[in-house]
Amino acid sequence: MKVLSSTSELFPFIKTGGLADVTGALPKALGAFGVEVKTVLPGYPQVMPLLSDNPPLVVFNDLFGERAALHHVSAEGLDLFVIDAPALFDRSGGPYVDARGIDYPDNWKRFASLSLVTAEIANGLLPGWGPDIVHTHDWQSALASVYMRQAGCSTPVVLTVHNLAFQGQYPAYLLGSLGLSPNAYTIDCLEYYGDLSYLKGGLMTADAITTVSPTYAREVLTPKYGMGLQGVLRKRVGSLRGVVNGIDQDIWNPETDHHLPVNYGVHDIGSKFANRMPLLKRFKLDTDDGPVFAAISRLTWQKGIDILVEVSGEIVSRGGKLIVLGRGERSIEEALVATAACFPGRMAVELGYCEADAHLIHAGSDIVVQPSRFEPCGLTQLYALRYGTIPVVSRTGGLAETIIDANDAAISAGVATGFQFDPVDGSGLRDGIHRAYDAWRIPSIWRRLQKQAMQADFSWQRSAGQYAELYLELQKRHVRTEQ
Ligand code: ADP
Ligand code: GLC
Repeated sequence: MKVLSSTSELFPFIKTGGLADVTGALPKALGAFGVEVKTVLPGYPQVMPLLSDNPPLVVFNDLFGERAALHHVSAEGLDLFVIDAPALFDRSGGPYVDARGIDYPDNWKRFASLSLVTAEIANGLLPGWGPDIVHTHDWQSALASVYMRQAGCSTPVVLTVHNLAFQGQYPAYLLGSLGLSPNAYTIDCLEYYGDLSYLKGGLMTADAITTVSPTYAREVLTPKYGMGLQGVLRKRVGSLRGVVNGIDQDIWNPETDHHLPVNYGVHDIGSKFANRMPLLKRFKLDTDDGPVFAAISRLTWQKGIDILVEVSGEIVSRGGKLIVLGRGERSIEEALVATAACFPGRMAVELGYCEADAHLIHAGSDIVVQPSRFEPCGLTQLYALRYGTIPVVSRTGGLAETIIDANDAAISAGVATGFQFDPVDGSGLRDGIHRAYDAWRIPSIWRRLQKQAMQADFSWQRSAGQYAELYLELQKRHVRTEQ
C-alpha cells in the first residue's frame, strides 16, 4: 500500500504545533502495517538544506506564475517530495506568518501549490511512482482532492482535520487564479458564504474524513464546535470517524531523552525529582518545595491561556510555582508577562518556541495545565503522562478522552491519570488546580497517579492500525468501483 501524505508541517524539520508531530510520526508507525508513506512538503528554508545536488524529478515553469521544482529526498526516516519554489516558500518567518506574526498575503497561492503538486503526483506526474491513497491534513493541503476530482483522478483521499478553527477562507474572485473551474464554486464544493473555503472543498471531495479523536468527531457536528462547518460535516457524517493521535515514544521517552539532566522511568520515578532543580534554575524560580505547574502551548483563545492568567495568583498563593512556555496572541502574551511581574520567583513566562525547554519542563514539573476551550486531540497531555507529570485538563475533545479523571472510583480502581474540569472558565480551572494540589500533598496518592500516567499507552501502534484499516477499506472500494 502506497500513501502520499501532504502537509504544511513535519517534525523534525518544521513545526508550529501538533500537526507536525503527527505527520512526522505516523509514516514511521504505518511502516509496521506494510504501508509505505511518502510526504509532500513545501521547501521552506528549514527544509531546503536536506536536498542534495541531485537533479529535480520535475521542473514546473509556471506553478501559479512561479518557477518550481520537485525533489525527492530521504531524511530522519522520512521519505519526502520537497517543492522547491523560492518565490513561495523561501521566507524568513514561520510557515504561515512573517516575523511580525502577520499572515503572508499569498498564503492562498502557497498552499494551493502544495495541494496542486500533491494532486499532480496522484494523477501520474512521476513515472514509476503513484499512490494508492492520498492523505491530506487541514486546510493547507485540502484543495488536493478538489484538484484531483477536477482532473478526473479518482484515487481515494483521506482528509484529517486537526483543527477546524483554521479553514483557508479566501475571496471567490481567486477561483480563476487557482486554476479551478466555475463548477468547483458550488455549495457542494468550495463555496462558503460567498467566499472560497479550502477546508470545505476538501471536506466535500475527500472519500473519508478523520478527526484526531472520536470525541472531537462528535463535537464538530454541533454549532459550538463546528466553527460554521457543522452542516457540511453532518452531510458527510457517514464518512467521518475519529482516530486518536499517538505519540512518538522514541522522542518522548524520559529514559533516553537527551534534553534531560537526569533520565528516569516508571521503575525509578524518584529520579524525576533530580530534574526539578535544573528546571527551577533555568526559569529563575525560587527553589523551595511546592508543586511546579506548567503550560507549554500556543498562546491563543483556543488554549484558554487567558483563563490560566486569571487563576495564576491562586497557584502562587497556595505555594505553587508556574512556568509558561509559548507564543501567540499579543494580548495574551502581554497579560502573562504582566502577571509574572507581580510574582517574582514564583511565576516565569518564556515567550518563544523551544523544543529542548519543552522536554525539560515535562521532566522537571509536577503538573501540566491545559484549560483549552476546544481541543481536537492535544499532545501535550500525552507527553506529560509519559513523563509522570500530571495533567489538569478541561473536559473537552481529546483531553476528555485521553485523561482519566482522578475521582474516588478511578483512584481506587487504580486507573486515574489526571484531573478534568468543567466548566472551562476560571471557576472550573480553580477547582481542577485545587484538586491536583490536594492530591499532590499526599505522596502515596501522587506516586500512584504518576505510575498510572507513565503506564498509559498512547503509542502510535493502535492508531496507525486504524489508519491502515481505513486506507485498505478505501482501496478495496476504489478497486470495486473501477471494475
Ligand atoms: P496544537 O497542535 O493545537 O498546538 P498539541 O498539544 O497537539 O496542540 O501540540 C502542541 C505541540 O507543540 C506539542 O508538541 C508541544 O510540545 C509543542 N509546543 C507548543 N508550544 C511550544 C513552545 N513554545 N515551545 C516548544 N514546544 C511547543
Ligand atoms: C491541532 C489540534 C490539537 C491536535 C493537533 C495534532 O493543532 O489543536 O488538538 O493534537 O492538531 O493533531
